[in-house]
Amino acid sequence: MNTTATALRFDGSRFRDVLGRFCTGVTIISAVHEGAPAGFACQSFTSLSLDPPLVSFAVSGTSASGARIERAGVFCATVLGADQADVCRRFGRSGGDKFAGVAWSPAEVTGSPRLAGGIAWVDCRIEKVFPAGDHRIVVGRVMDLSAPEGTEDAGPLLYYRGGFLGPQSGPRAVTGPVAAA
Ligand SMILES: Cc1cc2nc3c(=O)[nH]c(=O)nc-3n(C[C@H](O)[C@H](O)[C@H](O)COP(=O)(O)O)c2cc1C
Repeated sequence: MNTTATALRFDGSRFRDVLGRFCTGVTIISAVHEGAPAGFACQSFTSLSLDPPLVSFAVSGTSASGARIERAGVFCATVLGADQADVCRRFGRSGGDKFAGVAWSPAEVTGSPRLAGGIAWVDCRIEKVFPAGDHRIVVGRVMDLSAPEGTEDAGPLLYYRGGFLGPQSGPRAVTGPVAAA
C-alpha cells in the first residue's frame, strides 16, 4: 500500500477488515460494448444527486469489464435480490462468459443489460469519470429506472465482511424509521 509522507497505522488487510463492516447491497453494473455484454459485481454503487438525477460507482483500474463499460458510455445497474448470491459470485470474478445462461433484457433507453431477478434497475449514461487511487469513480446520469411490480417486500442481497447476510436481514427485520419525521 502507498504510504505517502506519514507511515500508515494499518495495512491492506486491516483496511479491508474494518471497511468490510460497512454492510452494502450489491449491483451488477453492465453494458453492451461492441455487440457483447460486459458486467461486474459492484458494492460501491450509490445514489448521488436527485436534481439532476445522478448515481455513482467506483471501479478498479484493473477491471476489464469496467473498461469496456466506460467505452460503451452507458450502463445499467441491476440491484440484486436476496436469492441472487450465485449471480453475484459469477459477476464478482474475472474470466469465463459471465452472461452464459443469465437471462437479461435491454434497458429501454441505453440498451444496457437488465438482469432478470433483480429488485431494481437504474439505466444511465456516463456523465463523468474521476480518477481515485487505484479506482475510478464513475458518475452516471439516470435516464430511466424501474422496479418489478409486487417485489416491494423482496429482500436485497446484503454483502458484509466478505460474505452474504442471511434472510433474517430482509426488510421485515427493520423495526422502525431511522429518524423521526
Ligand atoms: C460483492 C462484490 C462487490 C464488488 N464490488 C466492486 C466494486 O464496487 N468495484 C469494483 O471495481 N469491483 C468490485 N468487485 C469486484 C469485481 O466484481 C471483479 O473484480 C470483476 O468482476 C472482475 O472482472 P473483470 O476482470 O471482468 O472486470 C466486487 C465483487 C464482489 C463479489
